[in-house]
Amino acid sequence: MRLLVTGGSGLVGHAMQKICPDAIYVSSKDYDLTKEKDVNAMFERHKPTRVIHLAAKVGGIRDNIDHPAEFVYQNVLMNSYVVHYAYKYKVEKLIATLSNCAYPDVAKKYPLKEEQFHDGPPATTNFSYAYAKRTLDVQIKSYRKQHDCNFFSVIPCNMYGPYDNFDEKQSHFVAALIRKIHKTRENKEKTLNLLGSGKPLRQYLFSEDFARILIMLLDKYDGNGPINIAPKDENPSIAEIAKIALKAINAKDINIKFDKSFPDGQFRKDIDTEKLQKIIGPFSFTTLKDGIRKTYEWYLKSNLTY
Ligand SMILES: NC(=O)c1ccc[n+]([C@@H]2O[C@H](COP(=O)([O-])OP(=O)(O)OC[C@H]3O[C@@H](n4cnc5c(N)ncnc54)[C@H](OP(=O)(O)O)[C@@H]3O)[C@@H](O)[C@H]2O)c1
Repeated sequence: MRLLVTGGSGLVGHAMQKICPDAIYVSSKDYDLTKEKDVNAMFERHKPTRVIHLAAKVGGIRDNIDHPAEFVYQNVLMNSYVVHYAYKYKVEKLIATLSNCAYPDVAKKYPLKEEQFHDGPPATTNFSYAYAKRTLDVQIKSYRKQHDCNFFSVIPCNMYGPYDNFDEKQSHFVAALIRKIHKTRENKEKTLNLLGSGKPLRQYLFSEDFARILIMLLDKYDGNGPINIAPKDENPSIAEIAKIALKAINAKDINIKFDKSFPDGQFRKDIDTEKLQKIIGPFSFTTLKDGIRKTYEWYLKSNLTY
């Protein structure tokens, strides 16, 4: 088996390298996947039998709001070429990565089931990214139907872990939270200021758990996707996550203050994991406390300037 992983330099790519060091990992420095000739060259050179397609233009809310054209253009091109060339080069199995951000902004029923993926418009804040992911879902299903390709997709919830993006302008919630707690402590302050009410609910998955699950699916699953991926029965509020983070990084003397004048964003987007549980059976998910502790240890070791 020759496993090729796109997006090998990202948050999930690094977790995959730890779990599965023998695979071939590529990033934009090796091939620009928005360029057809690069995608062709990648398949020609590596001739993979299996592909995990992680590469994407990913960003926080601000980045999504400011650059919607880049999000749709780059993601649609990358996905279209990678899936099409995987078909042309007769890849035996491909897993593509969608996102729970692409589910409808508001749904009638929660937790969200896979069949609700296209049931209404996604949040306006990441409309372009979400539609690119929905298009990837359509593409995967179409190649499966017309060409009988053993391709399927997964829908992870929000993720965090070592190698996450801690940059102030681009980071997602957990990385931003870790950075803010660290800076609060460094500045000998006692109050952690967070934006919004703290009430929205958010599922979080440790990137190494996701990598392990991807390898299990690669071995065990040949059916139709997509498959939701999130820790079982967990949907903490932002306030609860912040409290867990303070404990995880031993900063219990810091108080949290929420600035309710800032908007909250989506109240909930939790996904149902019954399908995943049936496929992989019992799985021991990393607790938020342990995952945040490991991520903080990595952050400290990395000597990041932000
Ligand atoms: N992080 C989350 O919370 C989350 C949640 C749900 C779904 N997902 C999905 O999970 C997958 C992995 O996410 P991640 O957080 O690991 O992303 P990430 O850390 O932002 O990494 C993105 C990866 O894609 C590569 N890439 C971007 N543009 C490229 C291009 N034009 N050509 C080739 N490679 C390119 C990057 O390479 P360079 O480093 O060279 O730029 C990097 O390796 C993505 O599909 C994402 O949409 C992520």
